[in-house]
Amino acid sequence: MTAEKITWRSIIPGCCYKSSAADSTRQVQDKRTPFLQQRLSIKDVISDPSFADDLSNSFVGLNLHVFSLAELQAITNNFSWSNMLGEGGFGPVYKGFVDDKLRPGTLKAQPVAVKLLDLDGLQGHTEWLAELVFLGQLRHPNIVKLIGYCCEEEHRLLVYEYIARGSLEDQLFRRYSAALPWSTRMKIAVGAAKGLAFLHEADHRPVIFRDFKTSNVLLDSDYTARLSDFGLAKDGPEGEETHVVTRIIGTQGYAAPEYIRTGHLTTKSDVYSFGVVLLELLTGKRALDRTRRSREQCLVEWARPLSKDPRKLNRIMDPRLEGQYPTKGARKAAALAYTCLSRNPKARPMMSDVVMILESLQDFKEALTFGPFVYVAPKEEKDGNEGNGDYKCGYLPLKKIPKRKLI
Ligand SMILES: Nc1ncnc2c1ncn2[C@@H]1O[C@H](COP(=O)(O)OP(=O)(O)OP(=O)(O)O)[C@@H](O)[C@H]1O
Ligand SMILES: [Mg+2]
Repeated sequence: MTAEKITWRSIIPGCCYKSSAADSTRQVQDKRTPFLQQRLSIKDVISDPSFADDLSNSFVGLNLHVFSLAELQAITNNFSWSNMLGEGGFGPVYKGFVDDKLRPGTLKAQPVAVKLLDLDGLQGHTEWLAELVFLGQLRHPNIVKLIGYCCEEEHRLLVYEYIARGSLEDQLFRRYSAALPWSTRMKIAVGAAKGLAFLHEADHRPVIFRDFKTSNVLLDSDYTARLSDFGLAKDGPEGEETHVVTRIIGTQGYAAPEYIRTGHLTTKSDVYSFGVVLLELLTGKRALDRTRRSREQCLVEWARPLSKDPRKLNRIMDPRLEGQYPTKGARKAAALAYTCLSRNPKARPMMSDVVMILESLQDFKEALTFGPFVYVAPKEEKDGNEGNGDYKCGYLPLKKIPKRKLI
């Protein structure tokens, strides 16, 4: 087991200094270090006592701005209710606006989102630090950009670029707005898949996102998907390792069955969660909804068996689409969701395969001209029972984790 139950005070007491005027105008940047040659892992950060002295020294080369609490209070109108964008397990998120006088020459005037750690909440410094370590180093068009942070006494804040349309959860499930058209849903799926493929397969130690769900996919004004919320992310297995062992944490309805059963985490756990979100995009239904009839409450239990059968597709497709989708494209997307949700993790595709398949669906006619891409999934292992009864969103005993994170 990795030692995760470490209190923030024991990790980096030295970062909790009061920002001086000099600190607050400093950008965490060192011209001598073009970029960190190798990605820092969260373990490196926790185990190296030198990180304890001064976080800003530890993140040289990352182009992160260090903000004081007073500065963030000023840009969010004193964390006023009217600036609040939403609230998750970590704490509330506020909209703010930085003008070009705050960090002249290094930070352009722009709207930002400021996430404030709820000091009475159940997530804490470890999640804040994980978000800082991962997002500070991972830059990709489908990952939200971290602009900076504040670590002052017990206060922990993160400052991101503001993503105009908020979360996919709001856009997909909000009742009083127009339904997202098919092409937009597929664009979102491709963007999110590219973000995960980058985490899993790019030229760095794999990162397992661990909390992939609609509320953690933010949408730009042109519906480009941006993954957010790396507080639960983990460094993936290295070398001979096949998985990482960790406490079971995530969001009910999205977490892979083998992870819930064993605590063994792989990149294929994210592929499963992606399959759940893809089903949500197709059906317009939430992963878990206690207000639905009992056999439909868990989306995967209900929709996965139907997604396998092209003749039953219309039983699961979102009625708000009013039939405005290409049947063949929708069938392929449903078949892809089915494979991502395989009980056997090895039978799930890599995220780069998912990207290719989804890209081929974006303009289905065009894809046919060039010949359809066929993904051949590895055969399910014998013990990888595909029966519907295997998919249970059922509760496990409550752990000391926020209710929205409960599996
Ligand atoms: N960079 C951002 N730009 C715009 N809105 C944002 C940004 N980051 C977060 N939000 C908004 O704040 C809300 C809360 O985000 P947060 O990630 O803290 O919680 P959550 O995803 O709803 O829940 P959980 O803690 O389970 O992940 C989001 O749903 C989104 O609407
Ligand atoms: Mg979130």
